[in-house]
Formats: sequence, structure tokens, C-alpha cells
Amino acid sequence: MKDQLKLTAAQGVLQFLEPYIELGVGTGSTVDIFIEILAQSGLTLSKIFTTSQRSARKLKLHGFDVLNLSEIKKPLPFYVDGADEIDSSLCMIKGGGGALTLEKIVAETSKTFICIADESKHVKKIGKFPVPIEVIKEAIKPVCWTIENELGGLPVIRKNFVSDHGHNIIDIHNLSFDEPKVMEEKLNSIPGIITNGIFANRKADTLLVGTPSGLKIFK
Ligand code: A5P
Repeated sequence: MKDQLKLTAAQGVLQFLEPYIELGVGTGSTVDIFIEILAQSGLTLSKIFTTSQRSARKLKLHGFDVLNLSEIKKPLPFYVDGADEIDSSLCMIKGGGGALTLEKIVAETSKTFICIADESKHVKKIGKFPVPIEVIKEAIKPVCWTIENELGGLPVIRKNFVSDHGHNIIDIHNLSFDEPKVMEEKLNSIPGIITNGIFANRKADTLLVGTPSGLKIFK
């Protein structure tokens, strides 16, 4: 059932795309479905960038030519990606798949960020899903200390996982989400954290939600 809802959301993207457009493609199970749809659509895209090795492999498997992210130029017209949670103001928690660093870079570069999600991701208030952070190895202990003692969060180092960049991911539980932008900034200011998974300062522009009664669009 969830996959059907993801499919509904992913199919909805086609109405926004035109041939020869430049596209950023994110990471995750919803995006995997979107890549299949893109392949079947017959759309010729002028440039494709992506946020993970996983998506790059899948795109290449479908015959897409994936460009190196270092060639990306602002503004990228469209970026399509999933979310772990997204609220009605389109603030998100992302990074469940560990690709948050490139996701934040592409989000920041893009003109229009389209988030695709099944309805379980669309929540009143974000914060139930733990916030992933990518951290350099030497900073793990001090970062965990700061999170526990200054932010009241509970850091859990993700087991058997390293990011595409070779770093650890820590999932933070119990953070306060009364002001997502403020929490994003606080995490941004801790030395050793490369990226945090709160997307509140650069949130999505459009949300496509798959529901049992069809596609719902939020802007
Ligand atoms: C990847 O790092 C994430 O930000 C994903 O976009 C997010 O976790 C959604 O993934 P699913 O589509 O698999 O739920």
C-alpha cells in the first residue's frame, strides 16, 4: 500500500517537468520509484545531478547520464526528493537514508524543490523522526556531549553505516521543534557537524502527497 502511495506522489512530478530541463534527483525509496517513472516517461533531460551513489547507480542503470555534482550551477530549475517528515509549512526532516549533505547542497542550489511523499510523512509537527547529522569522526564525542547537555537531545550513533563521504551519522532523538529554523541553526553552529537533517531554512516549495484517494498538492 505504501509503495502505491509513493507511486502516486512520484507520478505527480511529471506534470511539472518539461523536456530538456535540468533536474536534481534525491535519494530514498520514494525517489527510487520516481526514477522508474522518469525512465518510462521518455522525457529527455538536459542535465541530471543526484545526491547519492545509490541514486546514481539506479539512474545509470536506466540509461541516464549523471553529471558530477561539482558541475552544478545555480539555479538548478528542479530538485525532486523525499522526506522523512514534512509539515504544513513544508519544513522537513531528511537524511534517513544518510544522504543529507548532498541533499542540502542540491536543495540550496535549486529554484524549485518538489518533495514527494506518502501520506504517513505529512505531519502536523516535525520532530518525531530523529534528526540525522553527519559528523566527522574526531568530533563524535564532543558533539554528543553538546547535544545532550546543551540541546537536551539523545544522540544515537547509527550502527554499521558510513555516509558516501565516509562519515558517521548520528540520529538525534527528543529535540525540541517549537522553532525548527532555530534548531537547524543551533546544530549548524556545532563544530564537527557537517550537516544536519533539518530542512527549515531551505524548505520544499511544493509537496506532492500520495493518499488512498489520489494525489494532493501543497504549496
Ligand atoms: C535520504 O537521505 C533521505 O533524506 C530521504 O529523502 C528520506 O529519508 C526519504 O526516504 P524514503 O523515500 O525512503 O522514505
